[in-house]
Amino acid sequence: MRTILVTGAAGYVGGTLTRRLLADPETSVVGVDLCEMDHGAEGVREILDHPRFTMVRADVRDTAALEPLLATSDAVVHLAAVVGDPAGKRDPERTRAINVGASQDLIAASKKAGIKHFVFVSTCSNYGVSDTDTLVTEDGDLNPVSLYAETKVAVEKALLAETELPATVCRFATVYGVAPRMRFDLTVNQFTIEALQDGVLEIYGEQFWRPYVHVEDAARAIELVLATPEKSIGRVYNVGDSGENYTKGMMYELLKERLPELEAKWVDINEDPRSYKVSFQRIADELGYSTTWTVPTGMDQIIAQARLGAFPDPKAGRFRN
Ligand SMILES: NC(=O)c1ccc[n+]([C@@H]2O[C@H](COP(=O)([O-])OP(=O)(O)OC[C@H]3O[C@@H](n4cnc5c(N)ncnc54)[C@H](O)[C@@H]3O)[C@@H](O)[C@H]2O)c1
Repeated sequence: MRTILVTGAAGYVGGTLTRRLLADPETSVVGVDLCEMDHGAEGVREILDHPRFTMVRADVRDTAALEPLLATSDAVVHLAAVVGDPAGKRDPERTRAINVGASQDLIAASKKAGIKHFVFVSTCSNYGVSDTDTLVTEDGDLNPVSLYAETKVAVEKALLAETELPATVCRFATVYGVAPRMRFDLTVNQFTIEALQDGVLEIYGEQFWRPYVHVEDAARAIELVLATPEKSIGRVYNVGDSGENYTKGMMYELLKERLPELEAKWVDINEDPRSYKVSFQRIADELGYSTTWTVPTGMDQIIAQARLGAFPDPKAGRFRN
């Protein structure tokens, strides 16, 4: 039996990851989350009684609360953070304290506790602006253009400089798809629900490229990294698929195919200058990873579930950070 500590377990990625890990009868999961955002414990509510799951309400800044949990864990997946550019800049000091300070303390405490594998979830936003004629690899320059991405880069650096803690960095593409704690502030999810419900999309910066990955595929990558420590320790992986880089203009076209009445209001401002096309060849080559969803199938998933009434109030605060 192995025990995996998942921070941020009640969030969008955490809820899906925790369920997938628990599907292995030889795995126990300890979830940690502050549960003070509008979604509370939504990501894990239905699995709170699972016999191999323990949920602890704690702040990742509270190292004393985490130490006894680390003492009985084999691996850590660190997801807890103030997530996204808008949330990150709301209270910069708090963002730095949670995203950087608490992560550094968790790294130190994990080392002390003898954690065998520490997986840090970072973001392809770290690439910021790049030449979109070529696909940026893990060795590409990091150009964070937001506080959120800056905090992720800082933790990556601290982790990779750490020689005694076996670790892997996973840089996720922007995530989409249905999860127990749903987010409608992520581009694919937001565009799809607005296209369906409002019939019109307001599109800023339609020409900017970004990579996207389904939440189930993102969680599968973590499972694979944990299952192959002999290959994944000491490595940085972009998580996604090289064929899944899109512009917002392309997303509009995909939604228009599904919802022919859809209209667009093109807004020509460069408010969000992130534009990057990413290569996901390394994780495919080294770990044999491939994705099972695409942005179009993810859009179909959201449309189908929304039509069933799965999201009666998608503009509610608990669906956004
Ligand atoms: N969603 C994406 O598109 C995306 C892309 C790249 C990377 N990531 C990374 O994946 C991870 C999870 O993102 P998500 O989309 O699930 O976000 P989320 O906001 O749904 O989940 C984060 C969770 O962390 C918890 N948390 C925040 N501060 C905490 C604290 N001080 N102590 C304990 N728990 C705290 C929140 O309550 C929340 O449940 C993050 O590290 C994020 O940077 C996400």
